[in-house]
Amino acid sequence: MNPLPIVSINMAMTLDGKVARPDGRWYGLSSRNDKRRMDEIRARAEVLILGKNSILNDDPVIHLRYVENATDPRPVILLRSGTLPEEKKVFRFSKQPPLIFCLDENYSLVRSNLSSVAEIVLLPGKDLVPEEVLKRLGDMGYREILLEGGPSLNDSFFRSDLISRIYVTVVPFLIGKKNLPSITGGDREYPGFDFRRWNLVSCETLENEVFLMYEKSRSGAESD
Ligand SMILES: NC(=O)c1ccc[n+]([C@@H]2O[C@H](COP(=O)([O-])OP(=O)(O)OC[C@H]3O[C@@H](n4cnc5c(N)ncnc54)[C@H](OP(=O)(O)O)[C@@H]3O)[C@@H](O)[C@H]2O)c1
Repeated sequence: MNPLPIVSINMAMTLDGKVARPDGRWYGLSSRNDKRRMDEIRARAEVLILGKNSILNDDPVIHLRYVENATDPRPVILLRSGTLPEEKKVFRFSKQPPLIFCLDENYSLVRSNLSSVAEIVLLPGKDLVPEEVLKRLGDMGYREILLEGGPSLNDSFFRSDLISRIYVTVVPFLIGKKNLPSITGGDREYPGFDFRRWNLVSCETLENEVFLMYEKSRSGAESD
């Protein structure tokens, strides 16, 4: 059996830890440096997993614009209900056809809407289990995965302990409103979160932003 691919996440957050504006979208708060850094991180990945709501709300451009001679990672989308509009940029401008994982419940709908612009893979069961998705991607030969949120999708992967690396850009704004999402989070805390310390691998300041990279501690338990 193939080992599971390595998964990194990359998110930008405000000084008060928010990753979405009060209108639920993310725009206008990242600098050109952050966009360049995002492309550098994307260029190291073979696959880029994008959240459904992030595509609906933000319609991200996924082709690399700031790194020369790099191959765009292949977009992967997890749809456990419904579908997505065909006119989203991920379907119009990707260099490689996006790969969509879906369930029995929405397979026909996704096929009828998106089969001309994406490859569609039906997974068994009632939920899209991140580990199953990674197994399939590993079987397809992909080793380096980048997950770019949103927080709900990130949470599913964190909760199953599938993330090895966290890239975070701190952008110089305070939103202030409570109950906006952070880089991850569900209804419950992660069991043993206070014993799972992440290791700071790099910390770079560029103009007015901080670029952090943390890796999961191999030893697991660590505390003061
Ligand atoms: N600051 C940043 O760097 C950054 C980056 C990305 C996104 N964002 C912000 O995050 C917002 C969206 O975040 P979000 O948390 O609402 O949504 P999301 O993570 O983008 O998408 C979540 C949706 O994905 C689908 N999904 C399929 N399989 C899943 C699984 N195993 N676990 C979880 N979800 C699964 C679900 O929809 P179905 O059940 O309907 O299939 C779920 O509602 C965006 O609007 C954007 O502004 C910020």
